[in-house]
Amino acid sequence: MSANIIALLFLFLSTVLAQDAFIGVNIGTDLSDMPHPTQVVALLKAQHIRHVRLYDADRGLLLSLANTGIQVTISIPNDQILGIGQSNSTAARWVSQNVVAHYPATNITAICVGSEVLSTIPNAAPILVNALKFIQSALVASNLDGKIKVSTPLSTSVILDSFPPSQAFFNHSLNPVLVPLLKFLQSTNSYLMLNIYPYYDYMNSNGVIPLDYALFQPLSANKEAVDSNTLLHYTNVFDAMLDAAYFAMADLNFTNIPIMVTESGWPSKGDAKEPDATLENANTYNSNLIKHILNNTGTPKHPGIGVSTYIYELYNEDTKDGATSEKNWGLFDANGKPVYILRLTESGSVLSNDTTNQTYCTARDGADKRMVQAALDWACGPGKVDCSPLLQGEPCYEPDNVFAHATYAFNTYYQNTGKAPESCDFNGVAEITTTDPSHGNCTSSTGGLNGTFPNATAPSMNSMSSDSTSSMFSQSSSLLLMVGILTWSIIFLPTARFM
Ligand SMILES: *[C@@H]1O[C@H](CO)[C@@H](O)[C@H](O)[C@H]1NC(C)=O
Ligand SMILES: *[C@@H]1O[C@H](CO)[C@@H](O)[C@H](O)[C@H]1NC(C)=O
Ligand SMILES: *[C@@H]1O[C@H](CO)[C@@H](O)[C@H](O)[C@H]1NC(C)=O
Ligand SMILES: *[C@@H]1O[C@H](CO)[C@@H](O)[C@H](O)[C@H]1NC(C)=O
Ligand SMILES: *[C@@H]1O[C@H](CO)[C@@H](O)[C@H](O)[C@H]1NC(C)=O
Ligand SMILES: *[C@@H]1O[C@H](CO)[C@@H](O)[C@H](O)[C@H]1NC(C)=O
Ligand SMILES: *[C@@H]1O[C@H](CO)[C@@H](O)[C@H](O)[C@H]1NC(C)=O
Ligand SMILES: *[C@@H]1O[C@H](CO)[C@@H](O)[C@H](O)[C@H]1NC(C)=O
Ligand SMILES: *[C@@H]1O[C@H](CO)[C@@H](O)[C@H](O)[C@H]1NC(C)=O
Ligand SMILES: *[C@@H]1O[C@H](CO)[C@@H](O)[C@H](O)[C@H]1NC(C)=O
Repeated sequence: MSANIIALLFLFLSTVLAQDAFIGVNIGTDLSDMPHPTQVVALLKAQHIRHVRLYDADRGLLLSLANTGIQVTISIPNDQILGIGQSNSTAARWVSQNVVAHYPATNITAICVGSEVLSTIPNAAPILVNALKFIQSALVASNLDGKIKVSTPLSTSVILDSFPPSQAFFNHSLNPVLVPLLKFLQSTNSYLMLNIYPYYDYMNSNGVIPLDYALFQPLSANKEAVDSNTLLHYTNVFDAMLDAAYFAMADLNFTNIPIMVTESGWPSKGDAKEPDATLENANTYNSNLIKHILNNTGTPKHPGIGVSTYIYELYNEDTKDGATSEKNWGLFDANGKPVYILRLTESGSVLSNDTTNQTYCTARDGADKRMVQAALDWACGPGKVDCSPLLQGEPCYEPDNVFAHATYAFNTYYQNTGKAPESCDFNGVAEITTTDPSHGNCTSSTGGLNGTFPNATAPSMNSMSSDSTSSMFSQSSSLLLMVGILTWSIIFLPTARFM
């Protein structure tokens, strides 16, 4: 490629892609207890997730996403591709039912025509580009083609010899599909959609790829991979794969098609053969990926050209087949509880405000009431939470039940101890959530540590309690009497177990 073309390409990409890259999240639904669409949307809002990708065009979810400002990529499932690729009118009907019916209330911004079609259902390859074209013409007919992009996510397995990136090329036997596909993407200003899984590249590399290189962790300079043709230095698998895709497109003379990563992630749990599917690695990968994307870092070949990326995925999908890892790619469990707390301080708003800092502690539904009461007493006593807002007439008195009162006290304690996960245990009767339990004028985080006890072991002890499950009981302190709802208190640390 001449320097001129490179300069032109850079100009093109930097003007066309001047807008910031975003982080989105994929929503797979293979859960035995799939949350209701309204709960899904509540989680997205709480986490400031502004971009999602669905694997279909589920009506309930699309309706719930209406008027939320969330941008939605929808998909045509692989089992509908053949029908749509063979019939213009089937395609038109699909667009009318799944797009026109929801737009603009639901801000549909892209349609994925199938998923990894070339690698998973090669028999559909001959009609794939037709399917895209038919969908596009239906959008044109509805005057939506300027608003909604059409593409098809590819597996990186269609890119051969991906390292060094400058030598990468598309599997030539797929050229009869890829060349018209790239022409289509170019003429419609759409994206090459790619699913990039450094986890599998690492797993399949037989130790050639260092774990740190897959996880975006700092590498010593001598471990960075250098492309001997371009002398570009690669510090992570993700960027190397993106550049391999840029080079593979250039090999077919397409130099101005931007890339969107429709899937990337890391599993948090695996079976014995998947020792690197861990909470720690999943957290490291996704935290680093999000920072990398939101920073618009770009790749060595195209520095500063942001590549929007959808994390795989929102929920752990417990009913997925296959290895344990298959069920554990999620950021959240079915209750919306984070599987791990992403390390995202200083990286903007998506997923960070809430998973890093906007987590809360509540009394666990279904916990033993007596144990919740004991934990509440501990929080208001030795735990030094100011429980005066729980007094009758004060903002947190209503609803007047032990779970609501305990949630106020647990959350205040949790917020005041810097949200250390171990400060939301209370002998197992508390749990971390992303739902703010504040209501009316009752906000826990303003409670402050205002107890009267200097230390957890300070309250006076006596034997007034009739309970015998613990060796340590305390008489109500003056504060507890003042609060008026607490009669006794078992002394225990939030993480301690009953003996
Ligand atoms: C959808 O989102 C895009 C990007 O933010 C915005 O430009 C557009 O106005 C939105 N469309 C609707 C219908 O809300
Ligand atoms: C498909 O239908 C659209 C209208 O929805 C029409 O504009 C287009 O020409 C048709 N294409 C083919 C190949 O029949
Ligand atoms: C290239 O694609 C063809 C057709 O799908 C497939 O049979 C072949 O295995 C692929 N080659 C490689 C090296 O992946
Ligand atoms: C790309 O362009 C070059 C120069 O114009 C040409 O020689 C080559 O055949 C083209 N390759 C393809 C795959 O079209
Ligand atoms: C952010 O981008 C700058 C260059 O624009 C780069 O120097 C820096 O390393 C990037 N930070 C991260 C976390 O990717
Ligand atoms: C999250 O909380 C920590 C500690 O309280 C603070 O240092 C950090 O700035 C906060 N991050 C954000 C994004 O608010
Ligand atoms: C996230 O937190 C940062 C820093 O506290 C703040 O500037 C930003 O507005 C927040 N974003 C959202 C969407 O609340
Ligand atoms: C909250 O407090 C304000 C002022 O203290 C009061 O006017 C308002 O009625 C209170 N709201 C509730 C729901 O108690
Ligand atoms: C703590 O207690 C003092 C005196 O008892 C009171 O003035 C102050 O408002 C309390 N602080 C909080 C955060 O409740
Ligand atoms: C409180 O704890 C400190 C150490 O954390 C200890 O030195 C002090 O004696 C304790 N005070 C009381 C009243 O138990």
